Amino acid sequence: MKKLSAKDVTSEVLFNKRRNFLKLGAASIVASSALVDLMAKENLPLANLKYLKDANENDLKLNTFKEITSYNNFYEFTTSKEKVKDLAKDMDTSSWKITIDGLVKNPITIDVQDLIKKYALEERIYRFRCVEGWAMVVPWIGFELKKLIEDVAPLGKAKYVKFTTKYDTEMFPDQSRGVFSSITYPYVEGLRMDEAMNPLTLLAVGLYGKTLEGQNGAPIRLVVPWKYGFKSIKSIDKITFLEEEPLNTWQAQNKNEYGFYANVNPKVDHPRWTQKRERVLGSFFKKKTLAFNGYEKEVGHMYKDMDLTKNF
Ligand code: MTE
Repeated sequence: MKKLSAKDVTSEVLFNKRRNFLKLGAASIVASSALVDLMAKENLPLANLKYLKDANENDLKLNTFKEITSYNNFYEFTTSKEKVKDLAKDMDTSSWKITIDGLVKNPITIDVQDLIKKYALEERIYRFRCVEGWAMVVPWIGFELKKLIEDVAPLGKAKYVKFTTKYDTEMFPDQSRGVFSSITYPYVEGLRMDEAMNPLTLLAVGLYGKTLEGQNGAPIRLVVPWKYGFKSIKSIDKITFLEEEPLNTWQAQNKNEYGFYANVNPKVDHPRWTQKRERVLGSFFKKKTLAFNGYEKEVGHMYKDMDLTKNF
């Protein structure tokens, strides 16, 4: 095993200051073999990204790396949340390019590695809430979508942003098999321009200091923390600026169950799942779901003239 330097040993050890393994103490965060053994035992990732840390002002308790990477929704592989990680482990994202096109002055196709070099990365510790009623807290690493939007310079006519997952039947078995055949591939999501420009909206390229695992949407995914998890589209191939609202995958699948906005809203139940409460991965008891997933102060103003029971 590679010998670690103090610089390498960041992520979960530093994040979870209050956790037991920090009995080791901050001063002992060096390449001690005890720490290396501990990291292996706890299945901790080795950080390989440089980023600005989030101060975690709300003192959110992070889910573990293992929890975040072992229970996933990624229909392109399977509908079994526990099986995604094994099916995604050979996903080769090494020369992944992303295209930004549509109603923009400066369309571009760029290697994700070059994109990462272009924008300073930062950590964002966000709550994440799936419409199925489970939730977690994730220390994402990424950059604001806003920065990319400013660089491609949308035309005045551009009112929406459409995101498309890569279509590659060799990489994503269910795209050709279609076991979950009611989903049409490629997976598509969308945001209104002000939502896309909101400082909370992140293009994530890592978590816990490390580049994204396949199951979490490598090499680049969207994270919109005040919306249900299905809006946070994985493994993005294309970002397109449009005049009209794009039809997102789940709305196309069943428009009575899924809308375009999908803001976390404990007052509007999904026909099959109550949205009043949620179970955070790793905890037994459920807790109350917060309006806009706890981000009302930052995003509520964007919807003040809308009926959110109709625009669900
Ligand atoms: N993106 C793609 N391309 N395919 C998917 O099946 N599932 C969505 C979203 N993004 C999905 C996707 C759903 S339903 C959720 S809850 C989150 O990814 C899950 O993200 P996670 O597995 O990283 O927790």
